[in-house]
Amino acid sequence: MRIAIIGSGYVGLVSGACFADFGHIVTCVDSDAAKIGALQGGKMPIYEPGLASLVESNVREERLTFSTDIVAAVDKAEAVFIAVGTPTRGDDGQADLRFVYDAAKEIAAAMKGFTVVVNKSTVPVGTGDEVERIIRAVNPGADFAVVSNPEFLREGAAIYDFKHPDRIVVGTDDPRAAALMHEAYRPLYLNAAPFLFTARRTAELIKYAANGFLATKVAFINEMADLCEKAGADVQDVARGMGLDNRIGSKFLHAGPGFGGSCFPKDTLALAQTARELGARITIIEAVAEANRTRKNRMAQKVIAACGDSVADKTVAILGLAFKQNTDDIREAAAIDIITALQSAGAKVRAYDPQAIEQARQVLTGVTFCQNAYLCAEGASALVIVTEWDAFRALDLARIKEALSEPIIVDLRNIYSPSDMRKRGFRYFSVGRQ
Ligand SMILES: NC(=O)c1ccc[n+]([C@@H]2O[C@H](COP(=O)([O-])OP(=O)(O)OC[C@H]3O[C@@H](n4cnc5c(N)ncnc54)[C@H](O)[C@@H]3O)[C@@H](O)[C@H]2O)c1
Repeated sequence: MRIAIIGSGYVGLVSGACFADFGHIVTCVDSDAAKIGALQGGKMPIYEPGLASLVESNVREERLTFSTDIVAAVDKAEAVFIAVGTPTRGDDGQADLRFVYDAAKEIAAAMKGFTVVVNKSTVPVGTGDEVERIIRAVNPGADFAVVSNPEFLREGAAIYDFKHPDRIVVGTDDPRAAALMHEAYRPLYLNAAPFLFTARRTAELIKYAANGFLATKVAFINEMADLCEKAGADVQDVARGMGLDNRIGSKFLHAGPGFGGSCFPKDTLALAQTARELGARITIIEAVAEANRTRKNRMAQKVIAACGDSVADKTVAILGLAFKQNTDDIREAAAIDIITALQSAGAKVRAYDPQAIEQARQVLTGVTFCQNAYLCAEGASALVIVTEWDAFRALDLARIKEALSEPIIVDLRNIYSPSDMRKRGFRYFSVGRQ
C-alpha cells in the first residue's frame, strides 16, 4: 500500500517508519524544510530509542522517503495520515486545529482516486466531520473517506507501542475505508492485536477519554502524596496497596512533580473545553488540569523549603529536563516550570539531561547546562531529580555528596530510599514519603 504521512514529528515519523517496516511504501511529509532536510541526510530530528536504525533500514530498502512536497506524496497515496500537532489554542483550552485543517485543504487539492484520509492527530470530537466538509469544499469531485485512528504510542517506547498496541481504534462507517485500514495494519491484525471499529465521533472521544483517565490517575496519586506527607504515611506503599487491586491496576500511580509532555496537559484542557461546549461538563477533568497546573510551582516551593526556605544566590542542580525518561521532549516538562520558579526566587541553576539539553536551551535562559550529573552537582546547594532517567537511578552518591556544597537532595521521582539516603548523610526530600 502507498501511504503518505502529513507531519513528521514524534507520531508521524514513528508511524511512517513502522508502516514502512510493515512493507508499505511510505512518504513522510513535513512543512518544516529543515526537518525534512535532516531526515533526508540521515539525521533524526528527535530522540526516540530505536528510531534511527528503523528509519535507516527502511530508507535503504526504498520503502521510506521524506519530502516537503505534499502534492506528490498524496496523489499516489491510497491512505493519507494526518499527524500534525494540535496544541492548546489561545485562552479557552481547546485544541488548535489550524494545522489539521491546513493539511486537509492541501490533501484535498492533491488527492487522486479513492483516498482514505486518516486523522491520527488527537482532535476534539467532530473534527473528522469538519475535515470531511473542508475536503468536499476544496475538491467537490473527490472520492474519499475520513477516518479517525487515534494514536496511543508513548514517547520513549514509541516503536514498541506502535508495533504492539493494546488496541487499534478505527472510527469509520465506510466499508472501503475499513478494509484499507485493515490492510495498513495487516501485520498487527495477523498478530491478533485487538481492532476496535467504531463510529468516527466515538473514536475521537476514546482518545481523550483514555488520556483523561490516565491523567486522572496521576493527579490522584499526586494529591494522595501530599496527604501522605501530612499524615505520616508512604505514598509508594499506598500506591502498591491500591495497584494490587486488579480493578485499579498499578500503572500511572507513581507520585511525582506533575504530568507534562505534549499530550496530557493539552488533552485534559481540550477535553474539559469540549465537554463545556457541548453542555456536559466533566468536572473531574477540570480538577485534574487545575491540580496539575499548580503542582509544578509547588514542587519549586518544595525545593526552596529544602534549602532552608531560600534559594536566593544559591546554586541548584537540576537532573532531568525532558518530561519523562527516554525522550528529548520538553513540552510542558515539570523541569521548565520548576527552573523558572527557582530563578525567580533568586537561584542560579545548573542542569543536565542525557538528551534534552538542546531543546531546553531554546526555552530557558540563564541556565548553565552541564555534561553530566557530577559536573551539574558541582558547588550546588541542592540536587533536584526531576526526570526518572535510568542513569539517575544509579548515581555514585559519594561522588555527588563530594560535589555538592550542601548534602541536600530533592528527589521528585522517588527513585532513592529515604532511609538509605539518610544513612549516607544526605538531607533527603521526596514526594509523599517521610
Ligand atoms: N507525541 C506523542 O507522544 C503523541 C502520542 C499520541 C498522540 N499524539 C498526537 O499526535 C499529534 C502529533 O503530535 P507530535 O508529538 O507528533 O507533534 P510534533 O509537533 O512532534 O509534530 C508535528 C509535525 O507536523 C508538522 N506540520 C504541521 N503542519 C503541517 C502541514 N500542514 N503539513 C506538513 N507538516 C505539518 C510540523 O512541522 C511538525 O513537524 C498531536 O495531535 C498529538 O496530540 C502525540
